Amino acid sequence: MNIFGFDSLSSTNTYAIEHFDEYQHQDIIMAQVQTAGKGRKGRRWSSETGGLYFTVILKPVAPELEKLSSLTQIMAISVCKAVRKLGAKAYLKWPNDVLYKGKKFCGILSEAVMNGANFKGLVIGVGVNIEQKVIVSEKPFTSLAEMGVKISKSVLIESIFSHFESMPKVDFKEEFKKLCPTFGKEIVIDGKTGIFEDIDDCGRLILKTENGLETIIAGDVNF
Ligand code: BTN
Repeated sequence: MNIFGFDSLSSTNTYAIEHFDEYQHQDIIMAQVQTAGKGRKGRRWSSETGGLYFTVILKPVAPELEKLSSLTQIMAISVCKAVRKLGAKAYLKWPNDVLYKGKKFCGILSEAVMNGANFKGLVIGVGVNIEQKVIVSEKPFTSLAEMGVKISKSVLIESIFSHFESMPKVDFKEEFKKLCPTFGKEIVIDGKTGIFEDIDDCGRLILKTENGLETIIAGDVNF
């Protein structure tokens, strides 16, 4: 793993996609600030100084496209575990947010890299609020500083990455469920109520509703 640091990029994901061929599998692009940080669902990701913004470049040899979606959750588990190691009881919110006491402090955005119709690889972008005070967000936000966690960006990346590397060897679903307090409980997801019954091999949520089991690909969980 090599870390390539930049003072400012529009977005570490965008840069990683545009320069994909110049980097190796598992290289990391990191920026101190992003001028056009991207969040899920086309949202903007507030990216001033005081946050950690990085993207891991992945070039799987024999891509199993469906299974790749679980890598985003494996990354969320890795961030959660790295922060827990530092003493804060972080937890997961499906599909891949990392929270502390009801407030989000980390978001993850994965994007496929294509050459026309051919899959080339994947970039996984991670944003962790370390000590950024002003956040443009619809949802409550916190920072590692507010959580009483002190760590340098490089040590945090290394810790996250070592969890990430070792994770595919274990069953990520069990790890995810252990760290996700809404698992097994009643939730409302985009207006649908049911029990958070399971997650499948691709990381999709299985919701038990009055009408039976439903597989949810994306959405916002409330409980
Ligand atoms: C979310 O909406 O929760 C996902 C946010 C992902 C933000 C990170 S910051 C590093 C990488 N570069 C981006 O432009 N986005 C991701």
